[in-house]
Amino acid sequence: MTTSIQNCSRDMECREFPMSQRNFRQLQKVAYDLTGINLSDQKRNMIYGRLSRRMRALQLDDFDQYCALLTQNDSQEIGEFINAITTNLTAFFRENHHFEYLRDHIFPELIRLKQRERRIRIWSAGCSTGEEPYSLAMVVKSIPALRFWDVKILATDLDSAVVEKAKTGEYSADRCADIPPQYRKFMEWDAHSECGVVCDAVRELVTFKQLNLLQPWPMKGPMDVIFCRNVVIYFDMQTQVKLFARYTNILDTSGYLIIGHSENLHEISERFESLGRTIYRRAR
Ligand SMILES: C[S@@+](CC[C@H](N)C(=O)[O-])C[C@H]1O[C@@H](n2cnc3c(N)ncnc32)[C@H](O)[C@@H]1O
Repeated sequence: MTTSIQNCSRDMECREFPMSQRNFRQLQKVAYDLTGINLSDQKRNMIYGRLSRRMRALQLDDFDQYCALLTQNDSQEIGEFINAITTNLTAFFRENHHFEYLRDHIFPELIRLKQRERRIRIWSAGCSTGEEPYSLAMVVKSIPALRFWDVKILATDLDSAVVEKAKTGEYSADRCADIPPQYRKFMEWDAHSECGVVCDAVRELVTFKQLNLLQPWPMKGPMDVIFCRNVVIYFDMQTQVKLFARYTNILDTSGYLIIGHSENLHEISERFESLGRTIYRRAR
């Protein structure tokens, strides 16, 4: 009896929606095949919590039914599943040294190198709710020498819900608190709530699209700068190797790649030279 209760709670088979070990393995496989995201066994409780909302919405009784929907390729539910498993943590000017490096080193160099075409392309790959590409756009707008340049920022994410949120450009007071004083002029402020909306001049620089990084990319490049921060931590090595090889191909010969603080290219790619603090340049 005691053993069966222990097994029961361990296997999550006695909760509101029974989820067997086999169900969780199926969910791990679907997640990996579709997105490259590795759902570790430690994430089981978190995934259960997130998908329970879907189970209630769909009025399903157990995860056998849910897994059946996914394996029948129900495209609507596959989209919801993807949105439920992604981790979207982000912030304005997160890892601010990257934005300072962009302002102090990358843009001055691109301004020198690209005098003729006066065109700069930046990609925020895995942009979540938009704070990262809008921070990039604010840096662009703050540089007088770029005033008449053709600068565009492409911002993409797998999760359709975060892309829609990003397009609104609206952020709560606590999210806006991360914007450094010199960039606060690029928001329109609600005097009472201190919520902010990104101003039109900044928004115009950014185009949001839903895109799975593991699938074919519609754009050809070349990109001058790619921000892909805190995205590949969820990918295994093999997936990272392929992705970074594709980044080298779409980057301009003098292009830059910026990754997250807990990521590195060791044994992943030799086609980048490190400039320190997870800033890389395509090797020449
Ligand atoms: C933790 S957020 C990072 C956001 C931002 N880059 C930052 O550092 O603040 C990771 C984002 O990567 C996205 N993502 C995960 N797998 C992806 C894939 N295969 N293709 C595109 N985006 C993906 C997630 O949806 C999520 O919004």
